[in-house]
Amino acid sequence: MKKLGMVGWRGMVGSVLMQRMREENDFSLVETHFFSTSNVGGPGPRLDGADTPPLQDANSIAALRAMDIIITCQGGDYTNEIYPKLRASGWNGYWIDAASALRMKDDAVIVLDPVNRHVIDAALARGVKNYIGGNCTNSILLMGVGGLFREGLVEWVSSMTYQAASGAGANHMRELLKGMGVVHAAVADQLADPASAILDIDRRVAQAIRSRVPTEFFGAPLAGGLIPWIDAQLDNGQSKEEWKGQAEVNKILGNTAPGTIIPVDGLCVRIGAMRCHSLALTLKLKRDLPLAEIETIIRGGNPWVHWVANDRPTTMRELTPAAITGGLRVGVGRVRKLNLGPQYLSAFVIGDQLLWGAAEPLRRMLRIILG
Ligand code: HSE
Repeated sequence: MKKLGMVGWRGMVGSVLMQRMREENDFSLVETHFFSTSNVGGPGPRLDGADTPPLQDANSIAALRAMDIIITCQGGDYTNEIYPKLRASGWNGYWIDAASALRMKDDAVIVLDPVNRHVIDAALARGVKNYIGGNCTNSILLMGVGGLFREGLVEWVSSMTYQAASGAGANHMRELLKGMGVVHAAVADQLADPASAILDIDRRVAQAIRSRVPTEFFGAPLAGGLIPWIDAQLDNGQSKEEWKGQAEVNKILGNTAPGTIIPVDGLCVRIGAMRCHSLALTLKLKRDLPLAEIETIIRGGNPWVHWVANDRPTTMRELTPAAITGGLRVGVGRVRKLNLGPQYLSAFVIGDQLLWGAAEPLRRMLRIILG
């Protein structure tokens, strides 16, 4: 049995990964060793009702070297610190990582196997050992409309995002909820009184949002609002999250040769959803196709595409974070031809940021390595 080292399995992405690996019985296929940066020697998690050995030191190159495969959700700082030392020690195992640190390196593949299994298989055959989870927004985009890319139909895509708090981290999710509580508390008495004036309520809410909603983690009030900037500022006016769109989508698809790059751009916006990222897409297709054919191609992208007919009741029922959160289905709806011309298509895509956006591609990569 191959030895699997798990690092960062207690954090938010790591916990979702653990849950999925338990559900899919992945641990029965490997000898798993759990690592820790803070509780070395402490008890490992129980698997199938059995104890696991004490936690090993996630900063020990000697301990990590004994693994055939390492999956880490510990974060980019850990990767930047440990990964180079581990490789320098001669370790030649498989490194599967949720963090972005190694994503754009030439010797790394971004994993999203329902979309790019051909890229992964070619990399395995060449001896590539680094398999990195993609940015959540891009993974969800491609899980949703990957069929159109596979058919070579996309000339460009404008991707306007509505990103959940979970993409920023657990503290940010808590801050969003605290902010919601502050907003409600500011007007709880007035809300209980049907005769109270709505503009008075609104004035109190605006005051609360400006002065009392916590902003420690997001840097701006998110509850009752939105933040049209995600991640660092680049010199060209893009945010780093926006830059990742074109860079990662093309890398995932294996479009590396000059002339093969598909332009992807748009504004990334944080909204007050908990863990579902949504994207409003404008796609320019290379050809004018009938909508029925487009539907067939999108539905055929992968088994997790949840096609939502472009009508009001179905959209309101099935194409919301409330409907999609916590599951593997990726909702694709609002697909129609835009007034811009017959080759211009709209689509609205929603996926769970912690599942396809983070944990799921990692455990599936483990399965692929194990054959
Ligand atoms: N950077 C993303 C976000 C999540 O902030 O929503 C990770 O892919």
